Amino acid sequence: MEIGERPLNGYSDKISVRPGETIRFHVSCDGPQAYDAQVVRLICADDNPAGAPFEAEPVDAAINGTFAGKPQMIHAGSHVMVPSSDLFDAAGGFTLQALVMPTTPSKGRQGLLGTWSETEHCGASLIVADDGSAGLIVGDGKASTLVSTGASMVPRAWYSLAVSYDPAGNTVTIRQTPLDGGRSVEITKTLLLDPAGRTGPLIMAAWHRAHPDGRGVHAGCFNGRLEAPRIVTRCLDAADVSRVQSDPLAGSVRDDVAAAWDFSRGIDGEQVIDITGNGHHGETLHLPQRGVRGHAWSGREMCWRHAPHEYGAVHFHDDDVYDAAWPECHAWTVPDDTPSALYALQVSAGEAEDIIPFAVVPPRGTRQSDLCFLLPTATYMAYANSGRHFRNDAVEMKQFRATTMTRSDCFLQAHSEYGLSTYDTHSDGSGVSISSRLRPALNMRPKVRVWGLAADTHITSWLEKTGFGFDVITDEELHNEGLRVLEGYRTIITGTHPEYHTVEMLDALEGWIDRGGRLIYTGANGFYWRIAYHPELPGVIECRKTEGGTRSWVSEVGESFMSFTGEYGGLWRRSGRTPQELTGIGFTAQGFDRSSYYRRLSDSHDPRAAFIFEGIDDEIIGDQGLVGGGAAGLELDRADFALGTPLHTLILARSENHSDGMLVVLEELTSNQPVMNDQHPKVHADITFFECDGGGAVFSTGSIAFAGALPVNGYDNPVARMMHNVVTRFLDPADFEGFDALRPASKPVA
Ligand SMILES: [Fe+2]
Repeated sequence: MEIGERPLNGYSDKISVRPGETIRFHVSCDGPQAYDAQVVRLICADDNPAGAPFEAEPVDAAINGTFAGKPQMIHAGSHVMVPSSDLFDAAGGFTLQALVMPTTPSKGRQGLLGTWSETEHCGASLIVADDGSAGLIVGDGKASTLVSTGASMVPRAWYSLAVSYDPAGNTVTIRQTPLDGGRSVEITKTLLLDPAGRTGPLIMAAWHRAHPDGRGVHAGCFNGRLEAPRIVTRCLDAADVSRVQSDPLAGSVRDDVAAAWDFSRGIDGEQVIDITGNGHHGETLHLPQRGVRGHAWSGREMCWRHAPHEYGAVHFHDDDVYDAAWPECHAWTVPDDTPSALYALQVSAGEAEDIIPFAVVPPRGTRQSDLCFLLPTATYMAYANSGRHFRNDAVEMKQFRATTMTRSDCFLQAHSEYGLSTYDTHSDGSGVSISSRLRPALNMRPKVRVWGLAADTHITSWLEKTGFGFDVITDEELHNEGLRVLEGYRTIITGTHPEYHTVEMLDALEGWIDRGGRLIYTGANGFYWRIAYHPELPGVIECRKTEGGTRSWVSEVGESFMSFTGEYGGLWRRSGRTPQELTGIGFTAQGFDRSSYYRRLSDSHDPRAAFIFEGIDDEIIGDQGLVGGGAAGLELDRADFALGTPLHTLILARSENHSDGMLVVLEELTSNQPVMNDQHPKVHADITFFECDGGGAVFSTGSIAFAGALPVNGYDNPVARMMHNVVTRFLDPADFEGFDALRPASKPVA
């Protein structure tokens, strides 16, 4: 197999499933005639031969077997579909008009509004022409022709665009008027063919193309913003074009306006509303970005809920993907006696393989253990198909080392239609704020770069080896069911990097800790971004990367409020809920070249911490590990009493001896500083412990690399010993008591 070939790719309709429920799998097999499918229980997803070899146990399942393979495509690109297209025909003339902010006018033809079909050569659409100017494309059923103004539009500038067809002279007038200043262009040309109407859907931000697989009927996707599109059933002059644009319901034009859409209505949904009363409502597909500034945004309001009319634009991207919509290949109804754990559907054909992970969670209202592993699936989604290793020019500077490309990286480099992560920018340079799991997520897999799922199984494989039974629940149960799904668990262990949370998720965790829950936060840069799940569509999150924080792009001015819920996005720290309040620690530094170790502090000898260090004489903790060679690396969290670390928190150990590539995070800086590296006082990870009023407690480890130290020496080392001590005590029902929540345990640290 060539590097970059991935003949097998798949996804499931759910990320978690309960016994008795059915999970469905969608598989593309591009090349091999047939493939084998096998359900496995996933023990270890890392395939590092040095300490955590890949391990999966076959599960007897009705869907195991050999199946004929078929390749599947993803037809990416957000657009709008309006089902009826008898809105206009050529015979009486027509005008198609909209306000448009193209972001890539020079990329080639892009559909804006109309019925033109590339396949059938009929219909008519307002488009961005090859030269970046406004144009009309029409067909007569045999051939198509394009006329355009010839004046290229400027990227990210707003225009009023209108194409008017006059059947009397078979002429087209195109008006391209810059709204931010500049020269208007108006041209009139005679068409070389007689336009033929088309009875199919009307499409915005794309045009019609029939795909052989019968899924998706769009092509020619537009990059940029579209606002206030209108369809008029006659040829308009300039004055009427501007009248229709500003008030399509005005008496003089009202009868001729077939449809006028107001995108400022229903910003939190998929419908686009026709305000004429003619009922030509449409639907967005592949989730373009809504709640974005329109052409007349004044800056008086920063939230779309307060001035929706200033947020009447929709931003379309040619690489937006919500649902790949591949045919269902396998449906597994999970038997009632299936234990809660991590599972996967392993599909393989010779060298080709894909391993599609999912969790079986306990039946509703029950649990199979006192211990629960909280699978950070929202974070997996945020990272889905992240291109940070190949879409980022500065990756080697940021990583402080040469980067490596995986097979998945090479595949994704050639397949942007598989969609992007919230770490990427769209092809037009705008940030990716929406990420779905209804598509193959090639990095949320075993045997890939150790991050996310593969890293998290260092924890679950250690739990399996040590014999601690545990249930698995995911962020989706936490979000949807809240405190109810946590009730009864004595201890919850997080993954290595639980970064993305909704308000519902944080409320549930806090409520559970208040009632005596014991949380083990085995990672770093957790509880960082505030996100929203879509209230209705399954499997999709939104994250606006707003004013502060360490981030790969920044939300545009006035666009910090999420479209799904209207909530203010960004760092939880900027919403007044710091990770330090919940866990004792919060994000402080990142560096990706090597990992280091922790040194015990005096608090580790406090009697309250005696159980944690039982059998551990070492002063140095975690000087070996599978992730960068030590337990403290990648991203680090530190205690900070000023940011909400409870005053009685014991700071047990602190990392040291990081490389010059370990840098303090941006949200800690108010100005540049001469010392940014390891010598910076905030560049270290802390291991902390504190008890809670309800009898519970929180233990936090402060590093994404921490769990990579668990498998060292056959899971027998001080890090594993410490975790064993903590889990054992945290599962003991005896309340934590004898602490004074108002008394500082240590001197406050910087
Ligand atoms: Fe992250």
